[in-house]
Amino acid sequence: MAKLPIFTYPAPVLAQKAQPVAEITPEIAMLIEDMIETMYESDGVGLAAPQVGKSIRLITLDETGPKERKSPMVLINPEYLEQSGVKESEESCLSLPTFSCKVKRFETITVKGLDQKGEVIEIKAEGLLAIILQHEIDHLDGKTLVDHASRLKRTMYDSKVKKWKKD
Ligand code: NI
Repeated sequence: MAKLPIFTYPAPVLAQKAQPVAEITPEIAMLIEDMIETMYESDGVGLAAPQVGKSIRLITLDETGPKERKSPMVLINPEYLEQSGVKESEESCLSLPTFSCKVKRFETITVKGLDQKGEVIEIKAEGLLAIILQHEIDHLDGKTLVDHASRLKRTMYDSKVKKWKKD
Protein backbone atom coordinates (compact mmCIF):
# COMPACT_ATOMS: atom_id res chain seq x y z
CA MET A 1 0.00 0.00 0.00
CA ALA A 2 1.17 3.47 -0.78
CA LYS A 3 0.19 6.93 0.32
CA LEU A 4 -0.88 8.87 -2.75
CA PRO A 5 -0.53 12.62 -3.29
CA ILE A 6 -3.75 14.50 -2.61
CA PHE A 7 -4.92 16.99 -5.22
CA THR A 8 -5.97 20.29 -3.72
CA TYR A 9 -8.29 23.05 -4.87
CA PRO A 10 -8.39 24.43 -7.56
CA ALA A 11 -7.11 21.26 -9.36
CA PRO A 12 -9.45 20.77 -12.37
CA VAL A 13 -10.05 17.07 -11.52
CA LEU A 14 -11.88 18.16 -8.37
CA ALA A 15 -14.44 20.08 -10.44
CA GLN A 16 -15.14 17.29 -12.94
CA LYS A 17 -18.03 14.86 -12.89
CA ALA A 18 -16.35 11.48 -12.38
CA GLN A 19 -17.03 8.49 -14.63
CA PRO A 20 -18.60 5.22 -13.43
CA VAL A 21 -16.26 2.31 -12.74
CA ALA A 22 -16.99 -0.30 -15.44
CA GLU A 23 -15.04 -3.17 -13.94
CA ILE A 24 -13.02 -3.82 -10.79
CA THR A 25 -9.68 -4.50 -12.43
CA PRO A 26 -6.47 -5.27 -10.50
CA GLU A 27 -5.54 -1.59 -10.95
CA ILE A 28 -8.79 -0.49 -9.31
CA ALA A 29 -8.27 -3.02 -6.49
CA MET A 30 -4.82 -1.55 -5.87
CA LEU A 31 -6.15 1.99 -6.03
CA ILE A 32 -8.71 1.08 -3.34
CA GLU A 33 -5.94 -0.21 -1.02
CA ASP A 34 -3.88 2.92 -1.65
CA MET A 35 -6.85 5.22 -1.08
CA ILE A 36 -7.61 3.62 2.30
CA GLU A 37 -3.97 4.01 3.30
CA THR A 38 -3.92 7.61 2.04
CA MET A 39 -7.11 8.44 3.91
CA TYR A 40 -5.77 7.12 7.23
CA GLU A 41 -2.30 8.59 6.81
CA SER A 42 -3.83 11.99 6.03
CA ASP A 43 -6.05 11.83 9.14
CA GLY A 44 -9.20 11.73 7.07
CA VAL A 45 -12.52 9.93 7.55
CA GLY A 46 -13.28 9.79 3.84
CA LEU A 47 -11.63 10.07 0.45
CA ALA A 48 -12.95 10.21 -3.11
CA ALA A 49 -10.95 9.04 -6.15
CA PRO A 50 -10.86 12.54 -7.76
CA GLN A 51 -8.89 13.68 -4.69
CA VAL A 52 -6.04 11.41 -5.78
CA GLY A 53 -6.39 12.53 -9.39
CA LYS A 54 -8.64 9.72 -10.67
CA SER A 55 -11.91 10.89 -12.16
CA ILE A 56 -13.88 7.75 -11.34
CA ARG A 57 -16.84 7.05 -9.05
CA LEU A 58 -15.11 5.43 -6.10
CA ILE A 59 -14.97 6.46 -2.45
CA THR A 60 -13.45 5.11 0.74
CA LEU A 61 -14.46 6.04 4.26
CA ASP A 62 -14.20 5.07 7.90
CA GLU A 63 -16.34 6.88 10.43
CA THR A 64 -14.18 5.54 13.29
CA GLY A 65 -11.29 7.59 11.90
CA PRO A 66 -7.56 7.05 11.43
CA LYS A 67 -6.95 6.14 15.10
CA GLU A 68 -9.40 3.27 15.39
CA ARG A 69 -9.59 2.10 11.77
CA LYS A 70 -12.47 -0.19 12.72
CA SER A 71 -14.81 0.09 9.77
CA PRO A 72 -13.14 0.86 6.46
CA MET A 73 -15.74 1.01 3.69
CA VAL A 74 -15.50 1.13 -0.07
CA LEU A 75 -18.31 2.27 -2.29
CA ILE A 76 -18.20 2.16 -6.08
CA ASN A 77 -20.71 3.95 -8.34
CA PRO A 78 -22.84 5.15 -5.39
CA GLU A 79 -26.41 6.25 -5.99
CA TYR A 80 -28.94 7.76 -3.59
CA LEU A 81 -32.09 5.72 -3.02
CA GLU A 82 -33.51 7.89 -0.25
CA GLN A 83 -32.73 11.25 1.31
CA SER A 84 -34.65 12.77 4.19
CA GLY A 85 -34.46 15.35 6.96
CA VAL A 86 -32.04 18.25 7.22
CA LYS A 87 -28.90 18.50 9.26
CA GLU A 88 -26.31 21.25 9.38
CA SER A 89 -22.71 20.13 9.73
CA GLU A 90 -19.35 21.87 9.98
CA GLU A 91 -16.99 20.21 7.50
CA SER A 92 -13.44 20.33 6.26
CA CYS A 93 -11.75 18.53 3.38
CA LEU A 94 -8.28 17.13 2.66
CA SER A 95 -8.39 18.93 -0.71
CA LEU A 96 -9.09 22.30 0.94
CA PRO A 97 -6.30 22.94 3.47
CA THR A 98 -7.34 25.28 6.33
CA PHE A 99 -10.89 25.64 4.95
CA SER A 100 -14.06 24.72 6.78
CA CYS A 101 -17.68 25.71 6.43
CA LYS A 102 -21.22 24.87 7.45
CA VAL A 103 -23.13 22.66 5.04
CA LYS A 104 -26.78 21.65 4.93
CA ARG A 105 -27.02 17.88 4.54
CA PHE A 106 -29.77 15.30 4.58
CA GLU A 107 -30.12 13.74 8.01
CA THR A 108 -30.78 10.21 6.78
CA ILE A 109 -29.82 8.68 3.48
CA THR A 110 -29.88 5.30 1.78
CA VAL A 111 -27.16 4.68 -0.75
CA LYS A 112 -26.64 1.83 -3.15
CA GLY A 113 -23.37 0.86 -4.83
CA LEU A 114 -20.80 -1.88 -5.21
CA ASP A 115 -18.22 -2.97 -2.65
CA GLN A 116 -14.62 -3.82 -3.56
CA LYS A 117 -15.66 -7.32 -4.62
CA GLY A 118 -18.28 -5.96 -6.98
CA GLU A 119 -21.19 -7.06 -4.78
CA VAL A 120 -24.19 -4.76 -4.61
CA ILE A 121 -24.51 -3.14 -1.19
CA GLU A 122 -27.10 -0.85 0.30
CA ILE A 123 -26.26 1.42 3.20
CA LYS A 124 -28.79 3.23 5.35
CA ALA A 125 -26.94 5.94 7.22
CA GLU A 126 -27.49 8.76 9.66
CA GLY A 127 -25.23 10.93 11.80
CA LEU A 128 -21.55 11.16 10.90
CA LEU A 129 -21.68 8.29 8.40
CA ALA A 130 -24.45 10.02 6.42
CA ILE A 131 -22.46 13.26 6.36
CA ILE A 132 -19.25 11.58 5.19
CA LEU A 133 -21.11 9.75 2.43
CA GLN A 134 -22.73 12.94 1.15
CA HIS A 135 -19.42 14.82 1.30
CA GLU A 136 -17.60 12.11 -0.68
CA ILE A 137 -20.40 11.62 -3.23
CA ASP A 138 -20.31 15.40 -3.81
CA HIS A 139 -16.67 14.97 -4.87
CA LEU A 140 -17.78 12.49 -7.56
CA ASP A 141 -20.05 15.17 -8.97
CA GLY A 142 -17.25 17.74 -9.05
CA LYS A 143 -18.52 19.51 -5.97
CA THR A 144 -16.41 20.56 -2.99
CA LEU A 145 -17.12 22.55 0.17
CA VAL A 146 -16.32 25.85 -1.55
CA ASP A 147 -19.42 25.26 -3.66
CA HIS A 148 -21.46 25.16 -0.46
CA ALA A 149 -19.81 28.23 1.08
CA SER A 150 -20.92 31.85 0.81
CA ARG A 151 -19.51 33.87 -2.07
CA LEU A 152 -17.48 35.98 0.35
CA LYS A 153 -15.97 32.95 2.06
CA ARG A 154 -15.08 31.44 -1.29
CA THR A 155 -13.49 34.64 -2.56
CA MET A 156 -11.41 34.89 0.59
CA TYR A 157 -10.24 31.30 0.20
CA ASP A 158 -9.45 31.89 -3.48
CA SER A 159 -7.10 34.74 -2.61
CA LYS A 160 -5.49 32.67 0.15
CA VAL A 161 -4.83 29.83 -2.33
CA LYS A 162 -3.42 32.30 -4.89
CA LYS A 163 -1.08 33.69 -2.27
CA TRP A 164 0.17 30.17 -1.36
CA LYS A 165 0.95 29.54 -5.02
CA LYS A 166 3.08 32.67 -5.16
CA ASP A 167 4.98 31.93 -1.94
NI1 NI B 1 -13.53 16.35 0.76
